[in-house]
Parts: sequence; C-alpha cells; structure tokens
Amino acid sequence: MKSRDKILSLLLESRDQWLSGEHISSLLGISRTAVWKNINTLKEMGYSIESSSRLGHKLVSSVNVMNQSELVKHLDTVFLGRNTLFLNETDSTNIQAFRLADQGAVHGTVVVAESQTMGKGRLSRKWFTDPGNGLAVSMILRPQIQPILAPRLTLVTAVALSEVLDSIGLNSYMIKWPNDILINNKKAAGILSEMKANIDYVEFVIIGMGININTDTSTLPDEIRDIACSISEELDSEVSRVKFLADFLNSFERCYDRFLSGDFAGILEKWIKKSGILNKQIKVTILEKEIFGTVTSVNEDGNLILETDEGIKVINSGDINYV
Ligand code: BTN
Repeated sequence: MKSRDKILSLLLESRDQWLSGEHISSLLGISRTAVWKNINTLKEMGYSIESSSRLGHKLVSSVNVMNQSELVKHLDTVFLGRNTLFLNETDSTNIQAFRLADQGAVHGTVVVAESQTMGKGRLSRKWFTDPGNGLAVSMILRPQIQPILAPRLTLVTAVALSEVLDSIGLNSYMIKWPNDILINNKKAAGILSEMKANIDYVEFVIIGMGININTDTSTLPDEIRDIACSISEELDSEVSRVKFLADFLNSFERCYDRFLSGDFAGILEKWIKKSGILNKQIKVTILEKEIFGTVTSVNEDGNLILETDEGIKVINSGDINYV
C-alpha cells in the first residue's frame, strides 16, 4: 500500500480528530515532509482535510470519500458491489476489471479508481477522469445469456444511470445514442461495455462508466473543456460520489434482474423515452461516411432504424448528431 493510502486510512479511522504530522510520520516510518506532500496530494484529489501547524491534520468531510465502508452504508444490493477494489490510480478500471475477471473475480465485483492513465472511451477514444471529482467505475458481470444479447446490458446501464439522475432531481439530461448522458448538449457521462465470450456463452461482461460528478469543467484539459459538463455544475451543488455510486449500483442491480427475468422491453421503452430520439432527423458518422435520415425506431439490440433516401438502414455503430 502506498504511503498516501496509509495516511488516508489513518485519517478515515480518526475522522474529525486531529492527527499530528509527527504521529503519522512515526507510525508509517516516513519523513514529516513526505507526510505533508501526501496530505497535499489527498487534498488535490478532493479529500477535505484541514491542516494546522500546531495540531496536524484531520479529515473534515466525507462528501468526496470513496471506499468500501462508505459504500456499503448506502448499498442495498444482493451481489453488486459486495466485492470491490478501490484504486487511487490505474491504467483503466475496465482493463483492471477484465484482468480480475480473467483471474476468476466473482460476479458483481466493482472496480473504482480516482484517476486513470489510459481511461478508455468508445471507438478507441480516451476518457479523462477528474481525480476526487469524477467517477470511474467498472462492473464485472457473469450473465448466463447468449453473447448476442450482451449489448443490451449497455442500455440497461444507461437506464439505471438515468434513474439515479432522476432521483437527484436532475431533469435536464438526455441519453444520446448509443450511451452518453448529455446535459445541454454537453457530455456528463459515458459507458463502455466489453465482453469475453465463446460462440454460445458469455464468460463475463465488463461495464465501465465514467461520470463528471463534482468536476469544475473550467479545469478540464483543453480538448474536452467545451464539450463536457458536470452534474454538480448543473445542480449547483456538490454530490456525494460514494452515495451516487451506491445509488447507481442499487438501481443497476434492479434493472439487471428485470432484464434477466425477460422484461427487456420495459427497459428499452424507458431508454427510448429518455433519449427522445424517435422521429428525430440525424446525421450518423461511421468512419468517413455520413448517413442522413429520420429515426423510426430503436430495435431490441439498441440499433437505430433509420429511414433514409436510400431506404431503411440499421445503424449499430458510429456517432450521431441531430440535424
Ligand atoms: C465513452 O463515452 O466513449 C465511454 C466512456 C467510458 C469511460 C469509463 S471510465 C470507467 C471505465 N474505464 C475505462 O477505461 N473506461 C470506462
């Protein structure tokens, strides 16, 4: 365990109480300067730590604290999030979850990270996670379904996420096909599903979700600053990330059970409603190719049925724009 994580554990154990730098340094066998540097890193990550040269340091707020003990306080799931891995930094929670699943991690295992050095988006794009403010989470699922049905789980995820957004009073969002959450045309969240399967059975599915929760978008990297938004900016108040995560896992497990019990139609109906995509004129960009048309329906795999000048087309990948 890194010194930073050990200091965080000490602060969590003695929340609201002062811990002197000297005490921390002797417990961990590191210098006072190293303690100071690690405390600063934790503050940069969003942990609310008060520091006093006389008294030391104390954790004053848990609004941004992410760990298993905080998570379980809000969790009402049977299998999801009962086994977790919380990381400060990783390449990608999807990559980590894939590795863990390959090594036999149990159904429902959840991987969370504060920052990702190789966060992955759809279509080989990058995903940036804002440490201490964003949420990067991947779930390991082992559904006993045919591989062809697995893409439906991405829609299940978007619907579960939309239920949480509804519950916190955010009503200005929409699901943008295939699975972005947009607020005023800017992106607040994205979903990336991956799978390991044989011809006739799924070994596991990894569903990764990245959300800008308490992000101050003016601090984001140049290339995404103008196209991203955050939930706290929209609500004008901070959101507890751990509570949000628990709410999402609770909601996802319910939607997942509903999907497995055969009611995908109900989930799809909700997805379509939240996307508002029916009868909209859109432009689909697939690599260099552009297709224009009107969305007449969304099929059970989440593909768009598009009426174009050249007839009906089924769209299963690409980017869309409303025209
Ligand atoms: C997209 O909008 O293109 C999908 C973005 C998905 C990002 C999440 S963050 C957690 C998980 N780990 C990753 O590397 N990607 C997903």
